[in-house]
Amino acid sequence: MIRTLVTGATGALGVALRPRLIAVGHVVRGASRSPPTESEENLEWVELDLIEGTGMESAVKNVDVVIHAATAPQGDTDEVDVQGTKRLLEAAQEAGVENFLYPSIVGVDDVPLTYYEHKVAAETAVEDGGVPATIVRATQFHSFVAEMLGYVAKLPVWPLPTSMQFQPVDVREVADVIVDHATPVASGRIDPVGGPDVCSVGELARIYRTARGLRRPIIRVPIPGKTAAGFRDGHAICPDHRAGTVTWTEWLAERYTSSSDEMNARAQSTT
Ligand SMILES: NC(=O)c1ccc[n+]([C@@H]2O[C@H](COP(=O)([O-])OP(=O)(O)OC[C@H]3O[C@@H](n4cnc5c(N)ncnc54)[C@H](OP(=O)(O)O)[C@@H]3O)[C@@H](O)[C@H]2O)c1
Repeated sequence: MIRTLVTGATGALGVALRPRLIAVGHVVRGASRSPPTESEENLEWVELDLIEGTGMESAVKNVDVVIHAATAPQGDTDEVDVQGTKRLLEAAQEAGVENFLYPSIVGVDDVPLTYYEHKVAAETAVEDGGVPATIVRATQFHSFVAEMLGYVAKLPVWPLPTSMQFQPVDVREVADVIVDHATPVASGRIDPVGGPDVCSVGELARIYRTARGLRRPIIRVPIPGKTAAGFRDGHAICPDHRAGTVTWTEWLAERYTSSSDEMNARAQSTT
C-alpha cells in the first residue's frame, strides 16, 4: 500500500488528486494551511505552512510519495514555492520519501515572469534535493483561464491581449497523469501535459462569451514586453503533447450547465 502526501490539497489540482489516489488504493494525507471545507472519507489531514515551516515532520512521516502541489501564485512565491519547497525536500529526505512529484508549468524557462522564475528555481531544488523526483509540467488549467476571463466578464467591453496563445487542459486529466506516476519509483522529467487545442486568447474569450450567453465586444489590447511576447510566440504551449482530451468548449458546457442545473435544483427546493 502506497502512502501519499498531497500538499496544496485544497487547491485545484489537489482536489482532483485526492479522490483519484484513494480510488487506486493509496493511503492519502492532504496538507495545506486550512483544512478542506468538506470531509472526505479515507483522507488523513495535516496542517502545513510552508513559510512558517510548521507541520513538515507530521506531513512527511511514514510517507512513500509526496505530490507537492502547494503554490502561492498571488503571494510570496519565493518563500512558498522556492524556500518552502526546499524545506519540504529536507523533511522528505529525512523521512526517506521515495518519489517527490512536482507539478510545474509549460514554458517556465521561456517566459520571463517572476512566478515562472520561481517555478524553475523550485524544479532545480527538486532535482538537486536528494530525494528521487518526478517533474511534470502542464499547461494552464481550464479553471484558471475561466478565472482570468471572469475578471473581464463584468466589463461592458473586454480589453484582451487576443493574440497570446494557450493550450488549456482539464485539471482532472493532469491529475490522472500524476496519479499514474505516483509510485515509489521516480520517473525524472516526464512529458508535459497539454490540452487538446491551442487557442488564442481571442478564441478562448469568444467561446467563453458564447458559453455564458454574453454579448460583450472583445477589444484587442497589444501588450508590449518580453513576457507578453513569450505567450504570443507560443512558449507556454506544447502542441506535440496533447494528453488532455476535454476541450475548452466541452469544459465550459459542463461547468455552466451544471451550475445552471444546481441553480434550478436550488430554486425548485425552495418553492
Ligand atoms: N493553475 C494552473 O493553471 C496550473 C497549470 C499548470 C501547473 N500548475 C501547477 O500545479 C500546482 C497546483 O496549482 P493549483 O492551481 O492547484 O494551485 P491553487 O489552486 O492556487 O492551490 C494552492 C494550494 O497551495 C496551498 N498553499 C498556499 N500557500 C501555502 C503555504 N504557505 N503553506 C502550505 N500550503 C499553501 C493552498 O492552501 P492554503 O491556502 O489553505 O494553504 C492550496 O491548497 C502548482 O505547482 C502550479 O504551479 C498550475
